[in-house]
Amino acid sequence: MQETAQMKIGFVGASAVAQTITKHVLPHGHQVVLSNLRGPESLAALVNELGPGVSAGTVQDAAKQDIVVLAVKWRSVQAALFPVPDWNGRILVDATNRIASYDPSSLGDISGRTSSEIISDLAPGARVVKAFNSVPMLWISDFSASKPRTALFISGDDTSAKKPVNDLLEQIGFNCIDLGSLAVGGRLQQLGGPLAGVRLNFIEKFGA
Ligand SMILES: NC(=O)c1ccc[n+]([C@@H]2O[C@H](COP(=O)([O-])OP(=O)(O)OC[C@H]3O[C@@H](n4cnc5c(N)ncnc54)[C@H](OP(=O)(O)O)[C@@H]3O)[C@@H](O)[C@H]2O)c1
Repeated sequence: MQETAQMKIGFVGASAVAQTITKHVLPHGHQVVLSNLRGPESLAALVNELGPGVSAGTVQDAAKQDIVVLAVKWRSVQAALFPVPDWNGRILVDATNRIASYDPSSLGDISGRTSSEIISDLAPGARVVKAFNSVPMLWISDFSASKPRTALFISGDDTSAKKPVNDLLEQIGFNCIDLGSLAVGGRLQQLGGPLAGVRLNFIEKFGA
């Protein structure tokens, strides 16, 4: 297994996506700072349940970490990013899906700029990498030994930002495939794109 330096990983949003990724990274010695809308106190029980290596903070606290994962609903993206006026080059992993409505289920406009480019616009100075968005967390949270090694896609405009994300995904047991820029790769993997939700095909083709 490829080893990667121990990192501090922040999460904006503390629900299924944040908790699932947290459970993957903790065994490798990484530390996690969770944040949500209701504030750190509301996360005390969850922090306790997840165990050593996890703490709760504000969105600003989470945003100071080496890698920050944005894991809020699309409708909350603007408000969640607002408290951080300048990301100073830090890595922001966009795990969101641009869902306009859950009932009836519909996507946001998928023409024009990709969802991750919009997030880039809303997070000045962030090096945005899109990842995790189209794979159900139920699959990612399956830790069974018999599970095939699954392909996860990343996209981003900054190669040096994609490297640690690639290394982290490989370390926690996935085959990472770089699809290129936010404009091209982001469009391929975002909901509505041709590679959204195709993980099973990739298990068969590329699985170790
Ligand atoms: N679930 C999946 O299988 C899956 C897979 C891949 C990608 N995704 C995408 O990942 C994103 C997160 O999904 P999820 O299921 O983990 O989360 P979720 O159930 O939608 O929970 C949203 C989280 O965001 C927090 N939040 C809302 N507004 C916020 C704000 N202004 N500032 C900080 N935190 C805020 C909420 O905090 P409070 O609890 O305090 O309200 C909550 O912790 C979505 O865009 C989803 O489409 C989901």
